[in-house]
Amino acid sequence: MRLADGIAILPLFLTAVSATGAIHLKGGTIIAYNKQAKGLKIIRGGSVVVEKDSITGVYDSPPSRLPPGTETVDVTGKIITPGFIDTHRHGWQTVFKTMASNTTLIEFFGRYSSFVAPFFWNATDVYDSQLAGLYEALNAGVTTSLDHATSTWSKDAADAGLQASIDSGARVFYAFTFANITGLITVDELHPVFRQLAKKPSLKTSPTELGIAYDGWGPNPNVPEINKMMALAKELKVSVITTHSLQGPWGFSNSPEDIHALNYLNISIPIVFSHASFLTPAGADLLRSTNQYISITPESEMHYGQGHPVSYNIQDQASLGIDTHITFSTDILTQARIWLQQTRYERYLDVLEQNKLPGSNPMSAEQAFLLATRNGALALRRDDLGAIMVGAKADLLVWDGNSPALLGWVDPVAAVMLHASVGDLEGVMVDGKWVKKGGKLVAKGYPDARTKFLKTARRLQAVWKAMPLPEVPAEFNGNPVVHPPRVDVVRGPGDGYGNIYL
Ligand SMILES: *[C@@H]1O[C@H](CO)[C@@H](O)[C@H](O)[C@H]1NC(C)=O
Ligand SMILES: *[C@@H]1O[C@H](CO)[C@@H](O)[C@H](O)[C@H]1NC(C)=O
Ligand SMILES: *[C@@H]1O[C@H](CO)[C@@H](O)[C@H](O)[C@H]1NC(C)=O
Ligand SMILES: *[C@@H]1O[C@H](CO)[C@@H](O)[C@H](O)[C@H]1NC(C)=O
Ligand SMILES: [Zn+2]
Repeated sequence: MRLADGIAILPLFLTAVSATGAIHLKGGTIIAYNKQAKGLKIIRGGSVVVEKDSITGVYDSPPSRLPPGTETVDVTGKIITPGFIDTHRHGWQTVFKTMASNTTLIEFFGRYSSFVAPFFWNATDVYDSQLAGLYEALNAGVTTSLDHATSTWSKDAADAGLQASIDSGARVFYAFTFANITGLITVDELHPVFRQLAKKPSLKTSPTELGIAYDGWGPNPNVPEINKMMALAKELKVSVITTHSLQGPWGFSNSPEDIHALNYLNISIPIVFSHASFLTPAGADLLRSTNQYISITPESEMHYGQGHPVSYNIQDQASLGIDTHITFSTDILTQARIWLQQTRYERYLDVLEQNKLPGSNPMSAEQAFLLATRNGALALRRDDLGAIMVGAKADLLVWDGNSPALLGWVDPVAAVMLHASVGDLEGVMVDGKWVKKGGKLVAKGYPDARTKFLKTARRLQAVWKAMPLPEVPAEFNGNPVVHPPRVDVVRGPGDGYGNIYL
């Protein structure tokens, strides 16, 4: 029948259009990537074409042919960058936001870590807290994160953290933590939990992937435990392995030397060493020869005192991370800026201390930009991330070039790295889908997630408010714990330290 045929054609045609769903960002300044030169390539008045989850075209001027049904978005006057990559995060902790403004690492372990929380949190709490944290990250333009997910203390909690990551729409490398939690679960008992998690059907259709986090590489590793875990890692083809690496006075280790001694450093799986404070020259050589990366978490290493005394010298094998977004923002742009200026300061100080003056600037805005984007992708061994180039995943940011902060910009890299803030970020796309548009999160689940999170946060915050601050131990990992001299910001008596306002 003619009429019926005609009716049948219309929905088919509509389906075809939305299936293409191509997006053409037209007229913006694009901070693209030149793979051969391993550097940035600026295109003014250019075009980016996105089809499905990927960038399929990067042009100097609008292309003459576009896929049928392409939506063109005029981005004239705006700056288009890749999404930022955070290579160290504990996403489940959002509930603790602002509660630890003057904490130390030692206090953190005793009060806010996965060795304390599971006795008060259930799986719903993990879900709500993880999801709210990821929306915060997406709003800040962090499209990819490597989550050292310490909230895998039970089957339900592990599943909740992963499900929230998937539901957020972010690109999360969810590194499941194999740790013993006294009174709760052991590394052995976590094996079946991880196997089950790897079968989650929604993993297949989400940009989120599974990794492993493990902090028992050395000194004194349990070799059978590690062999069993690495067999699982290979069998299930995990995307990444990560570890807290802290040497020097911290005495944790998990150094590149520790993992190399077990023959697991020079492998095809990327291993990301968070902090790598007090990395040795031999450790740095090993990172280079095995192409493994560290995650410098500038603000966290200053806030908690892990330090980063030698990280300046290993930036060719380094990416940037946040660590605990409960104590400062989850914004990689801020981290890149802090790190840029801190590096400059350190290199200048070397000169000043010899009573000489700096005649050039040791680190550029472009280098900081690379650390915040491409180097994160390289740490994850993902050639298709952290770059605007054909074939890369469409994880893109749109910056308002006419905001009060950016108005008058000439150099787009300097504009973003040194002048912009999250408030200037108009659009965020992950895997070809908009999650922020017109300066607002548009993710479907956000309004509901916000309400649920607030309820959960208020309940758990009340528990922590009532919890006395832990005693400062006399020593930690065999080294004495002392009080650094307190700052005085008040003229005369008193120092102005004040309170934490819980
Ligand atoms: C977690 O606790 C909250 C508050 O008591 C409750 O509403 C929620 O249903 C619990 N979730 C689970 C999975 O038990
Ligand atoms: C877990 O506990 C076992 C048994 O006590 C121990 O041998 C192993 O080193 C622990 N693993 C970690 C990562 O702490
Ligand atoms: C790692 O493997 C590569 C390729 O097999 C080899 O060239 C390199 O020397 C190895 N590095 C170390 C530290 O074993
Ligand atoms: C943080 O400040 C509060 C209020 O002054 C103080 O009681 C607490 O000891 C401080 N914590 C640390 C770890 O310095
Ligand atoms: Zn950490």
